[in-house]
Amino acid sequence: MQVGIVGTGVMGSALARRLSYLGFDVYVWNRTLSKAKMLEKYKVSVALSIKELVEKVEIIHIFVSDNEAVKSVFFSKDTIYDNINRKIKLVLNHSTVTPQVNIELYEALREKNIDFLEAPVMGSWPEAEKGKLHIFIGGDKELFEKYQDYLSKIGEVLFYTGKVGTASIMKLASNMMLFNIALSLSEAIKLVEEYGVEPENLLEYFKKTWLKTVSERYGRRILDENYPTRFKLSLAAKDLTYAVQAATAKRKALPLTTASMNTYLLASEHGLGERDYAKVYLLL
Ligand SMILES: NC(=O)c1ccc[n+]([C@@H]2O[C@H](COP(=O)([O-])OP(=O)(O)OC[C@H]3O[C@@H](n4cnc5c(N)ncnc54)[C@H](OP(=O)(O)O)[C@@H]3O)[C@@H](O)[C@H]2O)c1
Repeated sequence: MQVGIVGTGVMGSALARRLSYLGFDVYVWNRTLSKAKMLEKYKVSVALSIKELVEKVEIIHIFVSDNEAVKSVFFSKDTIYDNINRKIKLVLNHSTVTPQVNIELYEALREKNIDFLEAPVMGSWPEAEKGKLHIFIGGDKELFEKYQDYLSKIGEVLFYTGKVGTASIMKLASNMMLFNIALSLSEAIKLVEEYGVEPENLLEYFKKTWLKTVSERYGRRILDENYPTRFKLSLAAKDLTYAVQAATAKRKALPLTTASMNTYLLASEHGLGERDYAKVYLLL
C-alpha cells in the first residue's frame, strides 16, 4: 500500500522509517527538501510537491508543527485539499493543534467523502520508530474501528476519545501536565541550589516518595548539560499556548498553565527553543 507523510521533522521522519520498515511504499514531502532527502536511505520516496504526494498515495499522515503549518499544507493553493482524489482512503492529522483546526479539516473532507481522523500522539521519535506511540483518536467511531488494524502498526496504545476535537484537547491536557511538572521540578531544584543544597540530594529524597517517577523522568533531563532533545521547548510553548487558548474559548481560566506558558515562551525568546523542554530550568 502507498502511504504519504507530509512533514519530515523529528516525528514525521521517525514515522516514515517505521512505515518503510513494515513494507509500505512510503512517500514524503517536506517544506525543506534536504530533510526529506535524508530518508531516501530508508527506501522512502521523496515527492517534490504535495500534489505529487497526494496523487501517489492512499493514506496521508500530516505531521507538521502547528495550526498555521497544518492549514498551510492542507488548504493552501495546490496542496492536500485541492488535489484530494477518490484514491485517498484516509487523512490522519498527528500534529498537535487546537481542536478547531481538526474540525475544519474534518468538515472539509466530509464534503468530499474522504475519511478523516485526528490522531495526536504521546511519545517521541524512538517510540514512533518502534511503533510504540500512544495515539489519541478523535472522529467517527466506525472510522476508528475501520482503521484500527492500520493504526496499531504505529501505535501501541490507541485511545479513542470521541468526536473530532476531543483527541486534540486530550493531547493538550496531557502535555500541559508534563510541562507544568518539568517547570515545577526545575523551580524546586533552583530553590535548593540557592541555599547550597546539591540538587542530587533533592532528587534522591524524592526517589523515596511518590515523586520518584518525577525525579527519575526529569532529574537528569534538567541537570545534564548534554541531555539530548526529545521534545523542543518551542513546541512545548506552542502546546501551552493552545491549551490556554482552548480554555479561553470556553471562558475558563488556567492560572497555573498561563504562568507556565509565559515561562516557556520567555525561555524560547531567550534562545532555548531548540533545546529539550526540561531545559526551561536554564531560564531560572
Ligand atoms: N517531537 C516530539 O517528541 C513530539 C511528540 C508528540 C507530538 N509532537 C508534535 O508533532 C508535531 C511535529 O513535531 P516534530 O517534533 O516533528 O517537529 P519538528 O521537528 O520541528 O518538525 C516540524 C515540521 O513541520 C514543518 N513545518 C513547520 N511549519 C511549516 C509550514 N508553515 N509549512 C509546511 N511545513 C511546516 C517543518 O518543515 P521544515 O523542515 O521545512 O521546517 C517540519 O517538517 C508537532 O505538532 C509536535 O507538537 C512532537
